[in-house]
Amino acid sequence: MKFETPEGANPIDRMNVVGRAHVRIDGPLKTTGTAPYAYEHHREIANAAYGYVVGAAIGKGRISAIDLTKAKAAPGVVAIVTADTAGKLGKGNFNTVKLLGGPDIDHYHQAIAIVVAETFEQARAAAALIRVDYARAEGRFDLDEALKTAALTGGDSDDGKPAVDRVGQFDQAFAAAPVKLDAHYSTPDQSHAMMEPFASIASWRGDELTVWTSNQMIDWGRGDLAKTLGMPKNKVRLVSPYIGGGFGGKLFLRSDAVLAALGARAAGRPVKLALQRPLIANNTTHRPATRQHIRIGATKDGIITAIAHDSGSGDQPGGGPETAVNQTKKLYAGANRMTSMHLAEIDLPEGNAMRAPGEAPGLMALEIAMDEMAEKLGMDPIAFRIKNDTQVDPEKPGRKYSERQLVRCLEDGAKRFGWSQRNAKPAQVRGGRWLIGMGVATAFRDHMNMTSAARVRLGKGGIVTVETDMTDIGTGSYTIIAQTAAEMMGVPVNAVVVKLGDSDFPVSAGSGGQFGAANATAGVYAACVKLREAVAQRLGFNSADTMFEGGKVRSGNRSADLAQAADAGELVAEDKIEYGKLDKTYQLSTFGAHFVEVGVDAYTGVIRVRRMLAVCAAGRILNPQTARSQVIGAMTMGVGGALMEELTVDTRFGFFVNHDLVGYEVPVHADIPHQEVVFLDEADDKANPMKAKGIGELGLCGVGAAVANAVYNATGVRIRDYPITLDKHL
Ligand code: MOS
Repeated sequence: MKFETPEGANPIDRMNVVGRAHVRIDGPLKTTGTAPYAYEHHREIANAAYGYVVGAAIGKGRISAIDLTKAKAAPGVVAIVTADTAGKLGKGNFNTVKLLGGPDIDHYHQAIAIVVAETFEQARAAAALIRVDYARAEGRFDLDEALKTAALTGGDSDDGKPAVDRVGQFDQAFAAAPVKLDAHYSTPDQSHAMMEPFASIASWRGDELTVWTSNQMIDWGRGDLAKTLGMPKNKVRLVSPYIGGGFGGKLFLRSDAVLAALGARAAGRPVKLALQRPLIANNTTHRPATRQHIRIGATKDGIITAIAHDSGSGDQPGGGPETAVNQTKKLYAGANRMTSMHLAEIDLPEGNAMRAPGEAPGLMALEIAMDEMAEKLGMDPIAFRIKNDTQVDPEKPGRKYSERQLVRCLEDGAKRFGWSQRNAKPAQVRGGRWLIGMGVATAFRDHMNMTSAARVRLGKGGIVTVETDMTDIGTGSYTIIAQTAAEMMGVPVNAVVVKLGDSDFPVSAGSGGQFGAANATAGVYAACVKLREAVAQRLGFNSADTMFEGGKVRSGNRSADLAQAADAGELVAEDKIEYGKLDKTYQLSTFGAHFVEVGVDAYTGVIRVRRMLAVCAAGRILNPQTARSQVIGAMTMGVGGALMEELTVDTRFGFFVNHDLVGYEVPVHADIPHQEVVFLDEADDKANPMKAKGIGELGLCGVGAAVANAVYNATGVRIRDYPITLDKHL
């Protein structure tokens, strides 16, 4: 169905089920260890052999010789596949470099072989016997060096050519501004560091391939796997019912799925493989490091007159930039504006999306810059932000935000957090050996509308079954989809069965870009509208006035049990939500405010986060419990980004040194204090029939800067390079 404007009664607006807290319906399966993850489909696959991936030991160059003799003769070995024996492989739409390298090597730990053996230990032992000789080549591993000659990229120009995006006259306005800031910021390469590794089980039946895997976007993965293997898409089935975290790393087909398929073909039996943890950071994608330059000019009373943001990042040839200027285009008013991006070719592993790509690292810089400007102006940082709020897209003044409650988020948060207690002068508040500071930052992330389809069945006993290839990456998709179908069909949540993550089901929006919840449920809404019509028709009711509530169907003075409609056989309906040009008319975005209090040890420099608050305005909240979990998870990730996370680059040999969960630090429970999340009342009827937008990435956007600003308020030392480790302020 097309969603243009909401017409007639929308059953979701009743909010009997949707909009209410509900525990995860998949929770018991997960807590009892019975939810099958990618490596665990024992029921479907009994006789799988084990695959082990060999990663390249150089950052750039060629394999000059590869000797498999000893490995082939090792106990239990069934097959070994390298680029020499894999046959012709294509490249997926979403991959920048080949997932099986050789003889040319594009990056460190690019996969160069899969060893298949009877047991995991045998595969691993045999892999160690493969002898590879390399001819190392000079690689470009130093981002700062590469950025010196980097080309302009991106931009909104009509001809698609790289462009600087301008409104007004930035240079003149900045030169004339009485108060200005000109500062550089940096964010490091970051790893998704999800709990479940990339893992796949591949099984061939004739020329048909089934892969149980861990993937956020089933249809993209299916298409790219078919393309890589040079086979028709309809011969590939991808199944991914449970996913132990993705954060954008699993948006795309990766080497585990491709190599499992190649290994299974060579072995003549199913193959399972999980990428070993030390391979993941360099073998898969990461969030690219950025070097950002921000200039802001304002009048003495705090009106921004000029704002410019340039971001530089690097990627493999053919790759893309980290779009860290996104939010600067839209977030604050200002008559003269300029944004640009530079992209350097480098030979580190390929970069790509990680939770809130663009805005997450972009706000880490911009929201420190806003704090610095406020200080120069002698203004409260909240008042400065409010003064520069805009209700229209500042680059396209005809375009209004569908909903924009940033000011309320900031004001409401300030009250709740006790912002009036903050001392504007840094390094003034002390509690014992701790210097105490408060920081704030705006949260901003776009909402994207995506086509999304679902199939719903009404079966015996009035059980409603939903089928869609939507995934649940730990976010709560199962639960909000069940709530949506329950609301639409007037049944309790436990009368709904949700089946996800299978390419045999209709194609959904998938899990990415915080677009999953709103779009996937809108697709279920559309399918349920159709099912309601089918029910009315079967019962001989007038579909225009048929009501579904409490397991009953009513029309005029007639009434029936919903279950009756399935007495003569199952009813099935399928539809998709399509938005047309809707999001061209309105700018759909989500807003919030993050508040952080830190203590910094005056003697050791140790930073401890003490309190966190997020106030979010993101359309209708479909389930406050799962949404809160999303936001506190994101806030936790934001603390990691601010204080810990960094893939350390070895610029001599070209790889990320700390490539496991020991060396790549993320917050643990002891690092995270009291967290509070508030959702403002909002129902965005311009967004979709659910009136919902995304929340999962908004929760991360701005957190890093709020921490940085709190550290500055505590210590008076301004750090512009993440992560803020104690050596930087001592
Ligand atoms: Mo998100 S980085 O689109 O999973």
